[in-house]
Amino acid sequence: MIGVQLKKHLTSKTELIVALDFPRADRAMELVKKLGLASVLFKVGSELFLSGGPDFVRELVHQKKRVFLDLKLHDIPNTVAKAARQAAMLHVEMMTVHLAGGSAMIRAVADELSSIPELKPKILGVSVLTSFDDVRCAEVTKAMTGHAIDVKTSVAGLVSYAQNCGVDGIVCSPLEVAQVRKDFPALYTVVPGIRPEGTPSNDQARVMTPKEARSAGAHAVVVGRPISEAKDPSAVVEKILGDLA
Ligand code: C5P
Repeated sequence: MIGVQLKKHLTSKTELIVALDFPRADRAMELVKKLGLASVLFKVGSELFLSGGPDFVRELVHQKKRVFLDLKLHDIPNTVAKAARQAAMLHVEMMTVHLAGGSAMIRAVADELSSIPELKPKILGVSVLTSFDDVRCAEVTKAMTGHAIDVKTSVAGLVSYAQNCGVDGIVCSPLEVAQVRKDFPALYTVVPGIRPEGTPSNDQARVMTPKEARSAGAHAVVVGRPISEAKDPSAVVEKILGDLA
């Protein structure tokens, strides 16, 4: 049976986040310009942030673009909280922190941002990276705790404590989103690994189409190469927005 939260979700829009995975700001800005007034968010990750800097983010915001700053912060609570404040000052709409940073770190970020409510971005938690399989996960968990834990259990454990520490949502794989929506209905879900029908999956092991991700309950999907490497990026975006509407 379809849950109340999912039913409500299906009457609202799933957002499209375009990943600006470029080594240079001018190339990223070229894609932004090509997409014109399309109603999307732009994801700035560490590669582009380290080359284009905060000025690139300021320029996007100046052009009234919506920004998701994906730096996956992880450090001592005070350092991450102060970094989160700087992200908020850039007027970004969403930002990421590693849930493995612990409850004190996440609470410090939530507390810091609660003092500037008018600028507060959504705090998104990264659980276990999708590049981790059960073997990698067991390697780290065993080294840290003496017990080998698989990806599914680690994700469930991290998300379950994080929801009480002030995160607004999480980044999760297409395969996890339906379960996350069921178990943690209050959390906003951002889902990468999205491929429109007929496009190559590249290095993404677990993919879904935009329509499938929407049906699974994703609040927002992240799409990079199918847009940035397309001959006509704006046509691809229009098609995806149609599928998500
Ligand atoms: O090109 P593609 O659509 O695969 O890009 C996906 C984007 O989402 C990249 O910026 C990638 O770093 C990011 N991402 C991901 N998997 C995660 C978290 C972020 O693919 N678990």
